[in-house]
Amino acid sequence: MCGIIGFTGELDAKTVLLDGLQTLEYRGYDSAGIAYYTKDGIKTVKSVGKVSCLREKIDQVEKIDQAEKSPSTCGIGHTRWATHGGVTDANAHPHTCGKVTLIHNGIIENYHELENALAAKGKVPCSQTDTELVAMLMDSCYEGNPMETIKKSVAQIEGAFAFCIQFADEPEVIYCIRKQSPLVACHTENGSFVASDMVALITYSREYFVLPELHIAKLTKGRIEVSTLEGKAVSPEMIKITWDMAAAKKGGYPHFMLKEIHEQPDALQSTILPRVKEGNLPDLTADHIPLSIFKDISHVIITACGTAMHAGLVGRIMIEKLIRIPVSVEIASEFRYQDPVINEKTLVITISQSGETADTLAALRLAKEKKATVLSIVNVKESSIARESDYVLYTHAGPEIAVASTKAYTAQLACLFLFSYQFALGRGCITEKECADKIAQLLHMIAAIEETLTLEKVLEEAGSDLAKAEDLFFIGRGMDYALSCEGSIKLKEISYIHSEAYAAGELKHGTLSLIVEGTPVVALATQEKVFAKMISNVREVKARGARVILITNGRPEVDASVFDYQIALPKLEDELVPFTAAIALQMLAYYTALHRGLEIDQPRNLAKSVTVE
Ligand code: AGP
Repeated sequence: MCGIIGFTGELDAKTVLLDGLQTLEYRGYDSAGIAYYTKDGIKTVKSVGKVSCLREKIDQVEKIDQAEKSPSTCGIGHTRWATHGGVTDANAHPHTCGKVTLIHNGIIENYHELENALAAKGKVPCSQTDTELVAMLMDSCYEGNPMETIKKSVAQIEGAFAFCIQFADEPEVIYCIRKQSPLVACHTENGSFVASDMVALITYSREYFVLPELHIAKLTKGRIEVSTLEGKAVSPEMIKITWDMAAAKKGGYPHFMLKEIHEQPDALQSTILPRVKEGNLPDLTADHIPLSIFKDISHVIITACGTAMHAGLVGRIMIEKLIRIPVSVEIASEFRYQDPVINEKTLVITISQSGETADTLAALRLAKEKKATVLSIVNVKESSIARESDYVLYTHAGPEIAVASTKAYTAQLACLFLFSYQFALGRGCITEKECADKIAQLLHMIAAIEETLTLEKVLEEAGSDLAKAEDLFFIGRGMDYALSCEGSIKLKEISYIHSEAYAAGELKHGTLSLIVEGTPVVALATQEKVFAKMISNVREVKARGARVILITNGRPEVDASVFDYQIALPKLEDELVPFTAAIALQMLAYYTALHRGLEIDQPRNLAKSVTVE
């Protein structure tokens, strides 16, 4: 989703902004722009397309206008992911009105009222964006005092926002404010930096802070001052970055997605090992999760979006199986509109890689309002979801750059498994011995992940076959149905092939009519309990001409006539197969997209961090 970078200091601002925007490309965007201060005032250049198009445009501008070559010391840059208004240069940020130039992440919900109020004063925007209305609003409030202007303006704005603002009267100062949408900042001997994501700052600093909501940050060359809207100074807590830049670079892989698929053994070690104590028992004390929270829970609601929600589907099966209490999995964007049954005995688990997904954050807030205990499984430290939860289990998967989530998903599963074991132990549902056995198996699973990665060749072959398809199906039962949902979204988002996940037993209630000669079907048959039934379902589709990619746990006896490819995963306890199966499905999606010649890391229309509703 939209990316923000701002800088004021001793370096060339244009370079900092363009490099920063390049680093933020993974978030997904469709246009980009920067505003930067030179001795001739604040200049703005915007372009649809990639940051490389913006660079070219700036080069052209510089050729025409020699003055542009003078150093720029302060500026703001933005990658836009269209919400209000089409993908055009005019709609790209920054937007200027009078003395105000600003960039914005988020969505202004009352833009219509703002537009009408401004129209009543004879002011008409040039673009179709909600952002330009805010520039107009701020300019109309401006009487020479930026802090007052921001305060007055945000009082009239509803919705989510992160703004970086330059006022023409103070062109070397950047003012920032946010609500819901993230903003992080840091100061170094080179100057002050602000960004929507610390990945853009890591070249300059290994320490940053999160701007508290509805606080104003004033960035000057020499310092960053943070204050409340009432003007009271505050010092936000500094956060140290624990991973290095190499972790955020491709490290020799052609795509971040492939790199992140291959990082899963390491990511899982980082997620699991610190949470296992002597005797192979779970230990969540470093996560400050007290055993007491398990006592009074009567039911669990897991809420999340997309892949994170699919991790929840596996979590539900584990928790219900081990603890025998009801668990429901709710799509976060639906949750708050359904008047969910929540009380102080409800444990709400939110799951999010970014920790900034607007729908998941809103679900969390509703759960807290209704007095539920909220535990979140999050990858990004100090993200909004992490900060607002009662308890956090960090996934420790390292930065995930590709839009398609891979290592974050398996790390989310690992957290859910560890949590279920601890929960079951805490409630006396399993003995210490049973728990230790489960953890030993979980540790063994990491080695099986390494082995799964060696199946790349056959998965590439199957992927090249799928690449020709326009429609396909993923089928499975139980855990395998949860995995089918994940396999389907992964394939759709990067290969643009339509697919559907179906509970295998449900096929004959309608969907079987879509299976014709050559329709690809990815059949997951990894669970012993339903293996025979699953193979019957595979026969049903095969009899209608399907091309079947069969995924099994180990190499059980299967009649070779029912499949075209068999992906035999290393043999594991059935409940642990989601880890290895997920990796096979990720590689299948990756190679399908590769064979279709697609971009993979930044699929069309999608964003890494979805910070709008
Ligand atoms: C994953 O491949 C997707 N890009 C997407 O479904 C993602 O999982 C979803 O948007 C939730 O994001 P989060 O984990 O950052 O909350």
